[in-house]
Amino acid sequence: MNRHLAHAVPAQGGPSFPGAIPDSIRASALMQKGGFDVLAGLLDEPCREQMLSEAVRSYATAQESAVAVSDREEYRGGAPARRFLSAPGGDVQDASYHAAWMLGFLREVTGGAPVTPSGSRGTYTYYARASDHLAIHRDVETCDLAVVTCLYNGPHAASASSVPATAGNGGVLCLYPSRMLEPLSAIRRDPATGTIGVRLLPGQTIVMFGGIVPHAVLPIGDHQVRIVSVLCYRIEARGLPVARIAHALSAHRS
Ligand SMILES: [Fe+2]
Repeated sequence: MNRHLAHAVPAQGGPSFPGAIPDSIRASALMQKGGFDVLAGLLDEPCREQMLSEAVRSYATAQESAVAVSDREEYRGGAPARRFLSAPGGDVQDASYHAAWMLGFLREVTGGAPVTPSGSRGTYTYYARASDHLAIHRDVETCDLAVVTCLYNGPHAASASSVPATAGNGGVLCLYPSRMLEPLSAIRRDPATGTIGVRLLPGQTIVMFGGIVPHAVLPIGDHQVRIVSVLCYRIEARGLPVARIAHALSAHRS
């Protein structure tokens, strides 16, 4: 049984862009929680262990993503500053990615519009070197909805009820649900306002409107290793795909 972990629903703030976000998504259970939710047990323990084994095997082929300075993208995608390794998923991850139960669950919590995998395969991301990180961004237009599961957080694997003493804020996922309608430059100028930090522990999954809610991964600490499974989905909502939100926002602002 999935267990929803409580988090504060943020106050709605910032400018209003009526019509920019489809009504079904605005009214969805996920948006009512601030555009994201943290779940324990979405993937059961055997599945997580198999996925971790697959991720460890894939590490040998992982490629580096490295961008020193974020570009000027204001809404979605672009080239945020980042440093990490990633590798394509495999058969184990594929099974969850395309599972009918997963698609049904995601459709239910995101307002009822069809949810489809963005591609044939997800990825494994490795924050495995000191200062590996991902700066403030919204996800690319093919990734309206992100499902990120922590597979490992070391050097000492933490249980879901404990916090790794060595981690500090390293690897914490910072989300800005109350600033979802602000341009990225405004959030980067003032990253402390409205941030909600989520320390995703092994076995926990965050489901988020990654194309709407700005977010970042803080640099990991010395000797820290985090391995996560990343699945991306598209949502087609009432004739206005979330992929077009950036354009709607741009039009509103011009
Ligand atoms: Fe992201």
